[in-house]
Amino acid sequence: MEKKIILSGIQPSGIPTLGNYVGALRNWKLLQSDDKFCYYCVANMHALTVRQDPKLLLERSFGMAALLIACGVDPTISPVFIQSDVHQHAEMNWVLACNTYMGELNRMTQFKDKSAKHADNINAGLYTYPVLMAGDILLYQADLVPVGNDQKQHVEITRDIAVRFNNAYGETFKLPEPYIPKVGGRVMSLTDPEKKMSKKFKRAVTDSEGRIAYEEGRPGMNNLLSIYSAMTGKTIEQTVAEFEGCGYGTLKTAVADAVIAEIEPVQTEYRRILADKAELERTTKDGACRASEAAEKTLDLVYRRVGLR
Ligand code: TRP
Repeated sequence: MEKKIILSGIQPSGIPTLGNYVGALRNWKLLQSDDKFCYYCVANMHALTVRQDPKLLLERSFGMAALLIACGVDPTISPVFIQSDVHQHAEMNWVLACNTYMGELNRMTQFKDKSAKHADNINAGLYTYPVLMAGDILLYQADLVPVGNDQKQHVEITRDIAVRFNNAYGETFKLPEPYIPKVGGRVMSLTDPEKKMSKKFKRAVTDSEGRIAYEEGRPGMNNLLSIYSAMTGKTIEQTVAEFEGCGYGTLKTAVADAVIAEIEPVQTEYRRILADKAELERTTKDGACRASEAAEKTLDLVYRRVGLR
């Protein structure tokens, strides 16, 4: 059977939140299975669209590769690589840019959001970011792209670009689909549960109901119950039943303990991997070699199609 190809891209941001962990990181290893072939790309070129400290960017890129592996991704099976180590990404970007309309890019909600947030640095890279991402995906002829809701629009534009290219130059790209993993509850910030996760625990905001239950209008309480359920694999109903009649303090401690039990081994593994920089570099270079081989097949075809080769 043909394996489904999966391309995961992740920016080398700083320390991930618990929300990132539940929503993405811990699902990475689950993608690795007999019927799938996964590529894991640390999107350091995407990160350049906002101002970066060069030393920190490099550090975080390796940090993200280490984290992927610490979360259970086996780099001997699935290439784990740093985007800029595979030169085909930059090359593909240009050809695709010449097949993307400004009107399409104008519609991207992330560009609108980011240019509002970084009003002093609305650079062309921020604008053409979706083209670079389309290249990441199309280079590997990916069937599925695991993304959160915020990235769905980018997978859609990737398909639009691919269809346009195929129509103009002949069948070249497979059409990818977004793959939205079922998440064990959404994890929001503990201090401001309407927002996404921050890292503080003990000061988790709840309410004055004095009753442990999952109910509308109680974001703080619901968040704690969701986290516990996500960490332990128990359902919300089971969780509520378990804490029936308990005080908030008991619940908070139990949630903290459950999080620590799950995160601690990952942290230990992460530190171990990062401690051997030479080995980590070998691993990502090896990943880049294997990725580059696949990427070159597509790039070569693309160059031929458009008359560059
Ligand atoms: N843009 C994605 C994000 O910010 C990261 C990313 C880059 C990506 N290239 C990708 C995701 C390719 C999926 C596929 O989260």
